[in-house]
Amino acid sequence: MRIITVSNQKGGCGKTTTSINLAAALATNNRKVLLIDLDPQAHATNGLDIKANLSIYNVLSKITNKKCKLEEIIQNLGENFDIAPSNIVLSTLEQELSGEIGRESRLCDILKNFKNNYDYILIDCPPNLGILTINAIRAANEIIIPVEASRFSLEGVSQLTSIINLVAERLNHRVDFKILVANFDSRLQHSFIMLEKIKNDYKNKMFSNIIHVNVKLKEAQNAGLNILAYDKYCRGAKDYFSLSREIITQEDAPLAVQAPAPVEAIEKTLKKRMKEILKEELPKLNEIVLSLSAPDAKEVYIAGEFNNWKLDENSRMEQTNGCWTKRLNLNNGNYRYRFVIDGNWSEDPANPLTQLNTYGTLDSLLEVNKGDGSI
Ligand SMILES: Nc1ncnc2c1ncn2[C@@H]1O[C@H](COP(=O)(O)OP(=O)(O)O)[C@@H](O)[C@H]1O
Ligand SMILES: [Mg+2]
Repeated sequence: MRIITVSNQKGGCGKTTTSINLAAALATNNRKVLLIDLDPQAHATNGLDIKANLSIYNVLSKITNKKCKLEEIIQNLGENFDIAPSNIVLSTLEQELSGEIGRESRLCDILKNFKNNYDYILIDCPPNLGILTINAIRAANEIIIPVEASRFSLEGVSQLTSIINLVAERLNHRVDFKILVANFDSRLQHSFIMLEKIKNDYKNKMFSNIIHVNVKLKEAQNAGLNILAYDKYCRGAKDYFSLSREIITQEDAPLAVQAPAPVEAIEKTLKKRMKEILKEELPKLNEIVLSLSAPDAKEVYIAGEFNNWKLDENSRMEQTNGCWTKRLNLNNGNYRYRFVIDGNWSEDPANPLTQLNTYGTLDSLLEVNKGDGSI
């Protein structure tokens, strides 16, 4: 039995969507699946239109007067697909468990004694790193961390991986994790930049399938259905089905004990996929390098219409021997921009093309011409 926890302390990154639809896709592949909703907000339970008086709370709590076994709360959702629902009372468990010995292993102990023969148990976590999430990590053999490419935060993921390491150290339970790029919006150039970043940071720790933005996934959740039941031909259904196939191919060597796939193999798949998507949905991008000589500057950013004038890590320029550079991948078109040198906004001294802005100062103008990548 493979126990897979879906976790990320960030809300809205696709945990529940992944838990529901991956579970449904695995069930379609003839695997017997139990989805445990471990989020007091009960989004998975509600998203599958389940009403539950008895929930996972009644299984985990020792003080409830309606104590039950896991088997007693399980509801059937269709062939091969069951759920252990949640409800809001679960939010009181944190307090109940505080100070208890073995509180991190409560769910793990229950699953160890659980005799039903599921092929997969998927656990949908709440959006925090509290005791419920730790219980889910402790109970799992594998962890899926969905991240939204557009809102990818290295800090968020590294906090979660430190918890995973802590569980390994303190509770002597080693689990492996894999990043799942979810909610990928291939219309945004930013998504590709972030995908590259995720790839750089987590090369051999990523699923080769990614989940694209697909409004049908939201509609299915609102309709109380999984995506395969709602519209099995839509992109969301295809994405989750492909992910389930990828997970099934690891059945003989699940994540926890599997030797890491060769980095080159994953890179090759990702590159191939990115090329396909780019060909499918994006016009040809042009690589532009902008530079500025400012040997005395400590920090230089480039802000413009291509990055919504935002000053953040992505707009920071790199410095070598006093020369600051930034590589941009842009569609054909004209873009206004300015440099921000140690907090002072200025136009590009090397670019004669300028335009007056609403502040009465000059923006530099970048003209990206069709096809040939020139400016
Ligand atoms: N790939 C996707 N395409 C479109 N909408 C999505 C996608 N993934 C998630 N959503 C929507 O985004 C919202 C948050 O997703 P959810 O899975 O509930 O996140 P989490 O469980 O991490 O908080 C939900 O309304 C969901 O329907
Ligand atoms: Mg959720």
